[in-house]
Amino acid sequence: MCVLKKIRISAVVAATGLLLSGVASADDVTRIGVAVPLTGNNAAYGKDIENAVKLAVSEANASNLTIGGKPLKLVVESGDDQADPRTGVQIAQQLVDKGVTVVIGHFNSGTTIPASKIYSNAHVPMITPAATNPTITEQGSAYVFSIIATDAQNAGAAGRYAVEVAKAKRIAVIDDRTAFGQGEADEFVKAVTAAQGGIVDRQYTNDKAVDFSAQLTHIKGQNADLVFFAGLNPQAGMVKKKMKQLGIRAQFVGGGGVVEPTFLGVAGADAEGAMAWEYGSPIASLPRGKEFEAKYQQKFGSAMLSYAPFAYDATWSAIKAMQAANSTKPADFLAKLRAQEYAGITGDIQFTASGALTRPSTTLYQVANGKWVPVKTVR
Ligand code: ALA
Repeated sequence: MCVLKKIRISAVVAATGLLLSGVASADDVTRIGVAVPLTGNNAAYGKDIENAVKLAVSEANASNLTIGGKPLKLVVESGDDQADPRTGVQIAQQLVDKGVTVVIGHFNSGTTIPASKIYSNAHVPMITPAATNPTITEQGSAYVFSIIATDAQNAGAAGRYAVEVAKAKRIAVIDDRTAFGQGEADEFVKAVTAAQGGIVDRQYTNDKAVDFSAQLTHIKGQNADLVFFAGLNPQAGMVKKKMKQLGIRAQFVGGGGVVEPTFLGVAGADAEGAMAWEYGSPIASLPRGKEFEAKYQQKFGSAMLSYAPFAYDATWSAIKAMQAANSTKPADFLAKLRAQEYAGITGDIQFTASGALTRPSTTLYQVANGKWVPVKTVR
């Protein structure tokens, strides 16, 4: 009888997932969500962000931090939003249902905008390390933060530079019709127009296209001297390559997300001379940039891309806010997150009242001898 009872108790323990003392129970862990594309065209960017979140979390776990009198045990919950707005909303709901206390993500503006509404309604803070449409932080949600420059800054700088420094007279624009591409094309055009530059053509594609002949042939007919591509890799590399094939001698300029090895691989020798504006300052120019780059390389056995330092800073922002509030509950640490100021890898981290980065920077790069080389940083 007694033996039978013992067996029954063990079965209940196993079935319910209850854990015996000495082992962390589900309630003792704090879940950090990361929502990014882990499959599809944008998977490399997403993996870069996920890795950086894992790096910050493993460091925090190894430092034996205590919050609210209990050891802080962080767990990463990853969601693959496939760079798709609808999937992004589903992933956001799944992360909320799993009880995440903060989300680092999303990567694309197109997923971030609808997903941010789910987090806001659930009172879960979201810090994007990559999505840059300015409307993200203009929504007026107390739960939405961005740790990176917006396209008003990045594409705005690109537009001014095209007219005032590059002295382009006949500017053409292609955008991928996503919330990101359309947003940055609009900001670029706004800045060109404000600087009294001339837009001679505006063409459209989508984020899955692989053929840009029609748009570029039209642009060639307009005799453009500068082409701004508002979209991501690998498409940016394909556009640059096609320009060469069609004999278009106009200067290629990309917006954020183009300064990556993928562009160089896709465009090959035709990449030479391409320009692109990327959020933030060159990693080698930042006090702890090289150290971070080496740490990432050592942990993951591959080179980081552009967004890892932002994702790492976003994760530590959340952890530092929890420490300052002495609580892992969003209701307690949200105000600390909003008010915090610290020196991150990417620069000073401080948020405006609407959750945007207070002191963003953006950098122009150009391909020289097969490498992206920084030309100028604008603050
Ligand atoms: N900056 C890109 C976006 O906003 C990744 O979608």
